[in-house]
Amino acid sequence: MVGGSRLVGEVRVTGAKNSVLKLMAAALLAEGTTTLLDVPDILDVEIMAELLRRLGCEVTHDQVGGVVAITVPAILDHRADYDLVRRMRASICVLGPLLARCGAAEVALPGGDNIGSRGLDMHVDGLIKLGARAVNEHGYLIASTEKRLRGESVYLDFPSVGATETILMAAVTADGTTVIDNVAREPEIVDICRMLNEMGARIAGVGSSTLTIEGVEELHPVTHRTVPDRIVAGTWAVAAVITQGDITIHNAKVEHLQIALEKLVIAGAVVTEVEDGFRVVMDQRPKAVDIVTLPYPGFPTDLQPQFIALNAIADGAALVTENLFEARFRFVQELARLGADVRTDGHHALVRGRLALSGAPVEATDIRAGAGLVLAGLVADGTTTVYGVSHIDRGYSGFVPDLVRLGAQITRLEEVG
Ligand code: UD1
Repeated sequence: MVGGSRLVGEVRVTGAKNSVLKLMAAALLAEGTTTLLDVPDILDVEIMAELLRRLGCEVTHDQVGGVVAITVPAILDHRADYDLVRRMRASICVLGPLLARCGAAEVALPGGDNIGSRGLDMHVDGLIKLGARAVNEHGYLIASTEKRLRGESVYLDFPSVGATETILMAAVTADGTTVIDNVAREPEIVDICRMLNEMGARIAGVGSSTLTIEGVEELHPVTHRTVPDRIVAGTWAVAAVITQGDITIHNAKVEHLQIALEKLVIAGAVVTEVEDGFRVVMDQRPKAVDIVTLPYPGFPTDLQPQFIALNAIADGAALVTENLFEARFRFVQELARLGADVRTDGHHALVRGRLALSGAPVEATDIRAGAGLVLAGLVADGTTTVYGVSHIDRGYSGFVPDLVRLGAQITRLEEVG
């Protein structure tokens, strides 16, 4: 890509990756056909579809219409193999539903990935609390229960998104009432709770820190529209600000991005709500903004690299604190190849804004780092080549065509090696 263009126009955001993968797993809880709408056309959805097929489901994916239909048989296989789990860590979200449906689940351990160690201890402890046994054998997490799981009180040490989902999906058909305290409150958690309740679950406290789940005998399939992807919407908002552009983002919810949009306003942007989203206009060099990542409703870690890119060309210096994933700063070494002035120490990064970045080849190491590097490339002098585009494909559907429509000078090259 060649930097320097102002991005102007409109984009529509699809359903959230971090919701739809879990909704696909939740479909396992009901025999019959569950239909999901507004599904993004991204690689991770394909991986999850393949995983569900191997468990015995029929899965169709209409990429253009954004519809996934999952037909779940009466009897499911209960093993998620390493070849898929290693490609997508979120595969772990089949653990809870498989245990609930089959009384057993064998899921390959994902191991470390590019943004840190990401333990599973809270997932496992929660399932054990509900009566399951769990062992780690030959690289697989093997969970089983002879009887139905039973409702219990579970307290999470940290409001983990994944652990909340695993325990929730195991508890909806457990015997009795489960109370999960200190749960994650992300919009994606609200989305899965809503879908489970539509399926016949009885979950109270949706959106709060405590979920009370009265176990039911069985769930039924539904049709459900996926919540919009707040991280993709936030990425477009940063794109407008960093390029001093004007982008209207449709199918986006201001209330899901409150702190991030507030930061863009402090940077100098004008953000206005439109009927189904918001518009971000910027006509000056952005001012540097400090950020601290925290569980929702705090600033999302998945927008941290994009904001570091923004700070890299901002007026002033910013302190960025990462509280969720320790290795998420790895990407700043790539950003430094574009001339960014970023120093890290533990979970802090000090970003001193430069007047300009300078185009260079860089490598994306994860989805959001990839997005951050593309944003930086949009304002770097000369040509920037981002390698590892497959990471970006995991989270952003139609990213390059959308950028082109908004006026970016960018082309997608076939990756070699
Ligand atoms: C999800 C999102 C990811 C987002 C993150 C935080 C998906 C597919 N991914 O990841 O994009 O950045 O939420 O908003 O939805 N932890 C433990 N033990 C556990 C579980 C988690 O120590 O049992 C730690 C992790 O190492 C990490 C922190 O808790 O440091 C947050 O993890 P969690 O909220 O579970 O994130 P994910 O569900 O993996």
